[in-house]
Formats: sequence, C-alpha cells, structure tokens
Amino acid sequence: MECCSCNPFASSHLLLTDSKSPKLPHSRRRFQGSQRASRVVAYYGLKTPPYKLDALEPYLSKRTLEMHWGEHHRSYVEGLNKHLEKSDVLYGNTMDELVKATYNNGNPLPEFNNAAQVWNHDFFWESMQPGGGDLPELGVLKQIEKDFGSFTNFREKFIEAALTLFGSGWVWLVLRREERRLEVIKTSNAINPLVWDDIPIVSLDMWEHAYYLDYKNDKVKYVNVFMNHLVSWNVAMSQKLPVYGIARPPGDCRSVSNGDLNGPKDMLFLKQLWGDLDFHIQVLLAAYTTASKSEIFSYTACRQLSQMILAVSFFHISEYILAVLFHGHSNVTPRSLLISKYYLLAMFFSFLEYFVEIVLLPGLKEYWWISNVGLVMVIVGEIIRKMAVITAGKSFTHLIKIYHEEQHKLITHGVYRFVRHPGYSGFLIWAVGTQIMLCNPVSTVGFAIVVWHFFYKRIPYEEYFLRQFFGSQYEEYARRIPSGVPFVK
Ligand SMILES: [Fe+2]
Repeated sequence: MECCSCNPFASSHLLLTDSKSPKLPHSRRRFQGSQRASRVVAYYGLKTPPYKLDALEPYLSKRTLEMHWGEHHRSYVEGLNKHLEKSDVLYGNTMDELVKATYNNGNPLPEFNNAAQVWNHDFFWESMQPGGGDLPELGVLKQIEKDFGSFTNFREKFIEAALTLFGSGWVWLVLRREERRLEVIKTSNAINPLVWDDIPIVSLDMWEHAYYLDYKNDKVKYVNVFMNHLVSWNVAMSQKLPVYGIARPPGDCRSVSNGDLNGPKDMLFLKQLWGDLDFHIQVLLAAYTTASKSEIFSYTACRQLSQMILAVSFFHISEYILAVLFHGHSNVTPRSLLISKYYLLAMFFSFLEYFVEIVLLPGLKEYWWISNVGLVMVIVGEIIRKMAVITAGKSFTHLIKIYHEEQHKLITHGVYRFVRHPGYSGFLIWAVGTQIMLCNPVSTVGFAIVVWHFFYKRIPYEEYFLRQFFGSQYEEYARRIPSGVPFVK
C-alpha cells in the first residue's frame, strides 16, 4: 500500500454532506462508520487547479480550461458520485484506493472510468504550471538521462507516444516502482498507471476536449507547447521521487548528498560549483541540442581547452618561478602575480562563454585558423613577457615601486630597446590570444578592453615614479621608445 504522505492526492476528495443536500460542503473529512449512522453521506469533490483558469494563456486558453475543468472534469466527479449513491461500499477510500479498487484487477467496475478520470484530471492540472516547460531538478534530470540517454531523447519519446496514441487517452512519465526506472507510457481512455502500481511523474491529456478549442486537430503543436511552456515537475517530483532517492525532498536546497559531506569546506564548495556547472551544461544540452555530453567534449573542445589550461598553467607557474628566483619566496604573493578576483572572474566567464557556445554554436569553434592565430599570440605574448622578466631581473617588479631601491635600475637594453613595457605588451597579447584561441568573440573583446584599460591607467602612474627615480634619463628614453601598449604614449 502506498504511503499517503507521498501522494499529493490521497485523502483530498472525500467530502461529507447531508444526504438530502445535493450541494457539496466545504468541510473535508474522511468518512467514518459512525457518521454514516447519523445519515451523513460522503461525496467526492471537484478539486480546483492550482492556478487561475486564465493562468496558462496563451498556451491553454481560459475558455479551454473553463470547458475542460468546469464541464468535463466536473462531469466525471458528478458521474462518480452518482454511481456511488447506488452503493456505499466504496466510500471511505482515497482517490488512489478508489481507482485501484474499481479497476478490479483488469475487470473494471462501473465506477472505474469516472474515478480514474477524476484522478487523471487532478494529476493533469498539477502537471502544468504558468511559465512551465523548464527542466526538472538535477536528480530527476540525471535519472532521465540514465533511463533515456538524454533529456532530448525523453522529450522525443514522450511526444512520439502522444502522437501515436490511438483514440482518446493519456501519456505519462512514470517511475516503475520495482525496477526504479523511468518510462514513458500511454494509456487508453481513463486507465492510468496506478492500476499497475507505477508512480506517475507527469501526464498529458490526449482527449480531444483537452486541445481542440485552442489547437483544432494540430496535436503536434499542442504536445510541443505542453513540453516547452506548460509541463511542471514540481508536485509529482517533490512528493514522490525523494522516497526513491531520485529527487531532493521539498525544502532541501543542497546540491550534494549527505554522503558527499565528508570533506573540508573548500572541497564541498568545489563539489557544489561543479554540480552547478554540470547541471547548466546538461540544461543547455537538453534544451538546445541533440548532442550528448561526450559529443560536446569532442576533439575540438578537448584540444582548445587543453591548450588553454596549458597556457594558463605555464604562464603562472613560470611567472612564479621567475619571481621567486629574482625576489625570493617571501616577496611573492598572488596579487603580485596579477592574480586578482577580477582576473579569476574574467577566466570564469571565458570558460562559461566557451561552454555556452560549443553547445549552441559548435561551428564557431571550428575556425581553426582563428584558433591557431590565438595560439601563436599566446606563445608570442608569453615569450615577450618572459624576455622582459629575465632581462630586467631584479628590476622587474610586479607591484609598482613608489620608493627607489638600490637594485631598481632603468633597463633599456634587450627587449626594452623596442618597447618601454614589454611585460605589459606580452601580457596583453597573451590574454587576448587565449580568447582568440578559444574562438570566444565576446571574451576576446572583453579581455582586450579590460586588460588595455588596466595598463592605460597603470602606465602613467608607474611612469610618474620612474621619472622621479631616473629623471631626464627616463624622459629621453620615453621620448624615443613607444610604451608597447596601443594608444598609450
Ligand atoms: Fe480531459
């Protein structure tokens, strides 16, 4: 027997009224034998949808809901109550129990059609919501991917089932209780998955009255609109699936299970971050492409991302080694290596752009000549910057010096013969090159503007002190040699 607390509709229909009064009262209680003795008879009530009748517009009109809920659904409730008037042996059941009992192991009793249709419509209203059409939460999405291969496959299967349903009936996503596997099924007329002890997750009414007013015979449009704009995972998902370890219980906002809560806080944060990133990748996959995750991590992505990771790693590791070599370990900090929260944010956005574009616009990443130009820029930028660091030695400082120190000399030889700030030139070329290498148009422009603006502000400030330290010697040097950063004198 199913647990009542796991069922959104259990015990929700039985209303008590005086048998002489045909109107349904507002009180809601389970029928009990002692009450029968006092001539009180139970009726099943018409449950209202969890939103206003015009809330699903423009996808389902108010007119459709007024007719569908106000007439068809109501008539099933009234038909059920009429049947039950003849015999009260079924009173006292929840709607679930009534459906199962009247199905009578495949030999339906006269009450079955009305009882099942009442249950089906209640569930159908809950399977939609204004602004629906989103993806289910991560746990359910993963289960769908496990059982269908991808969300897109599930979606196609659901639509196909709806369009190949003969006559009137319903399409369902159900959880097979024994196998703990999700499956799309279609049922004829009033039959629903409760009769096989499956757990319904979402349902779609494929009776003509559900769509004819809005879509005439265009079932394809109706089904697609349901999937894209109406389907709701909330009620069924939160009520049923946590029991099977598939979804989170309501109110539980954690991205990881209790089993994951065994590492230090940083690790937990990283797990959550990865969980969120993974979820968004799957959202993009499911919503916009038919590609699988393995297709996303194709040769193109693997090569471009590997180059990027290699470039970033090499840049910072070599920067660190040289800084320690010239200035000593104690004088090197992340800030002095140009690693700031803004830098990390910029890198995060560049990776985000890459993932979004390789999913939505995979062809963009296939411009290999552009990517290779970026690679060359990365290498050239790296060489220029490291030549500057090595040439200047102890005079190369990551932080601007505002006091003249003995080892701080004016360097004008080597790469400094061509530009005054080769370290900045190299970094600018390197940074923009990384984004061109990834074929990231937005980040290419973004990096160019941000890095250029940073040096545009920094160079005059730095040179103010250099002029103080080296006087006319620096004036003369600055007159002859360009800064090395475009549009900065
Ligand atoms: Fe219906």
